[in-house]
Amino acid sequence: MGFRRKIVAGNWKMNNTLSEALSLVDGILTNLDASTTTEVILCPAAPLLSALDSHTKNLPKIKLGAQNCSEHVSGAYTGEVSAAMVKSVGCDYVIIGHSERRMCFNENNKQLAEKIKRALENNLSPIFCIGEKKEEREKNIHFNLVKTQITEVLQNFSAKELDKLILAYEPVWAIGTGLTATTQQAQEMHAFIRKVLEETFGKLFADKTPILYGGSCNAQNAKDLFACDDVDGGLIGGASLKASDFCSIINSF
Ligand code: PGA
Repeated sequence: MGFRRKIVAGNWKMNNTLSEALSLVDGILTNLDASTTTEVILCPAAPLLSALDSHTKNLPKIKLGAQNCSEHVSGAYTGEVSAAMVKSVGCDYVIIGHSERRMCFNENNKQLAEKIKRALENNLSPIFCIGEKKEEREKNIHFNLVKTQITEVLQNFSAKELDKLILAYEPVWAIGTGLTATTQQAQEMHAFIRKVLEETFGKLFADKTPILYGGSCNAQNAKDLFACDDVDGGLIGGASLKASDFCSIINSF
């Protein structure tokens, strides 16, 4: 991993009211190692972003991300949140294509490409999620599937346009299940993803783009996962909701 950025992002999903969110942030600040060089990104639900931005304004170590943004610029899309809105409340990042969005809200690759476009137009770093389901791994089509997720969504962008891209490999069978990918499975897929990036966008791009692992990453297994050559950090769900666990993960590099 060496020269690449180290990143730990917390995906809070649909958890935490405003007061719960503020105490979680305070807990993280208490537990965070002041000397950490890891980039920490918190991704709370959209209504909490503005308040969390005010709460973390003077803390350069903590960045904010949204969990989603619309593929539309603005207009009559009741309930949706635009990339410009997300940017306007202090976000630098936005998660795009989380498997829960693909599965519960039928998001497809064409739509995800549009979302990434909106994110980039608004100077947000997309944290683009890819990963196979259990049956796809059992059928041994996981490499092809992940390659298709990458190429179909990113093929119309140039390496320059994708300068701010972060990828998150999240095997769906590992998300929220307590079943983590082994270090071997994670490293093998991350190296494969990097190879696909190299074939599509060149070596320079592949070498510098962070690839995070997500799926039951926790305070116990983070150290081994982050020690893998091509794992540049984690996208953490459940374990990001407890300050001490989240900070142990951040300190696992
Ligand atoms: P998990 O979720 O850590 O709870 O498995 C990860 C994610 O969905 O991003």
